[in-house]
Amino acid sequence: MRNVEEFVIMITGATDGLGERVATDLAGKGATLLLHGRDPEKGARVLEKIRERSGSQRLHFLQADLSSLAEVRRLASMVGDASRRLDVLVNNAGVGGGEEPRRRESSADGFELRFAVNYLAHVLLTRSLLPLLQRAAQEAGEARIVNVASAAQRAIDFHDVMLEKGYDGMRAYSQSKLAQVMFTFDLAEELKGSGVTANALHPASLMDTKMVREWFGTPRTTVQEGARHLERLILAEELRGVSGTYFDQDRPARADEQAYDLDARRRLRELSYSLLSQSLRWRPRGIAW
Ligand SMILES: NC(=O)c1ccc[n+]([C@@H]2O[C@H](COP(=O)([O-])OP(=O)(O)OC[C@H]3O[C@@H](n4cnc5c(N)ncnc54)[C@H](OP(=O)(O)O)[C@@H]3O)[C@@H](O)[C@H]2O)c1
Repeated sequence: MRNVEEFVIMITGATDGLGERVATDLAGKGATLLLHGRDPEKGARVLEKIRERSGSQRLHFLQADLSSLAEVRRLASMVGDASRRLDVLVNNAGVGGGEEPRRRESSADGFELRFAVNYLAHVLLTRSLLPLLQRAAQEAGEARIVNVASAAQRAIDFHDVMLEKGYDGMRAYSQSKLAQVMFTFDLAEELKGSGVTANALHPASLMDTKMVREWFGTPRTTVQEGARHLERLILAEELRGVSGTYFDQDRPARADEQAYDLDARRRLRELSYSLLSQSLRWRPRGIAW
C-alpha cells in the first residue's frame, strides 16, 4: 500500500463544500495538494484554514475561473510549474442549477455556463494534464482521475446542447453531469493499459454545501458523507486498476442510458473537441477525432 505522503493531488473547486472538506482530510494525511479556486482572497483564507487544521505546509493554491477556457489553459500550465507529476486529478468544481432556474448564463467563450464549467473546462484541464498523470503512473504504478459527477443526469439533446430553447437550470446541470460521465467512460477506454484510471462519482445526495443551500434550500446529508466516498475513489487500495466505472456513493452503479450509447458519446466528443479547437486553436494529443 502506498504512503499518502508520496501523493501529489490536484482538486478543482477546493475553496468550498466537498472540495474543501476532502482537501482538509488529505492535507491531514500528508499529501501534497494543488488546490484550485476562482477567488484569490477566498483561496488564501481557505488555505490558511486548512493549514491550521492539518498542520500541513504542502499546500499550493492555483487561481482560475473555469468559465474561461483561456484560464483553464493557464491553470494547466500553473500545475505543470508546481509539480512534475500528478498522482490524482479530482475534477470537482461545479455550478448548480442556480437561484433563478430560468436564467440562462453564458461562459466567457459564449457556451452555456454549466456545460462550460462542469464539463468542458474539465475536459480541457484533464487532457492538458495527461502527461503529468502518465508520468506518475510510470513512476508509481498508477494515477487516478476522479470526476465528481452526480446522480442528477439527463440525456443530452444534440439539437440544443447549449439549451437556447426553454432553458431550465436543473436540465442544464443534469446534462453537464451526464456529459462528465460520458467523458469518463471514453477516457477510461482510451487510457486502458496506461496505468491511469478514470472513474465518475455521485458523492452523496443533497449535502450541506453552498450549492445545495442556494439551489434547494434544505440539505439532506453532511459533506463528510460525500467526502468519505470521494476519498475512497482517490486513495483506496482495493480500487487500484478499477476504471470506467460510475459510482453511486460507495458502489458501482448504472448511469443514464445515454452514457452507454457509443454514437452519443462520439457526438459529444466531436462537439467538444470542435468547441475547444474553435476557442483555443487547441488539438488533443494522441487521439483520432
Ligand atoms: N452538494 C451535493 O449534494 C452534490 C451532489 C452531487 C454532486 N455534487 C457535485 O459535487 C461537486 C462539489 O459541489 P459542492 O456541493 O461542494 O458545491 P460548492 O460548495 O458550491 O462548491 C463548488 C466549488 O466549485 C467552485 N466553482 C464554481 N464555479 C466555478 C468557476 N466558474 N470557476 C472555478 N471554480 C468554480 C466554487 O468556487 P467558489 O468557492 O468561489 O464558489 C467551489 O469551490 C460539484 O461538482 C457538484 O456538482 C454535489
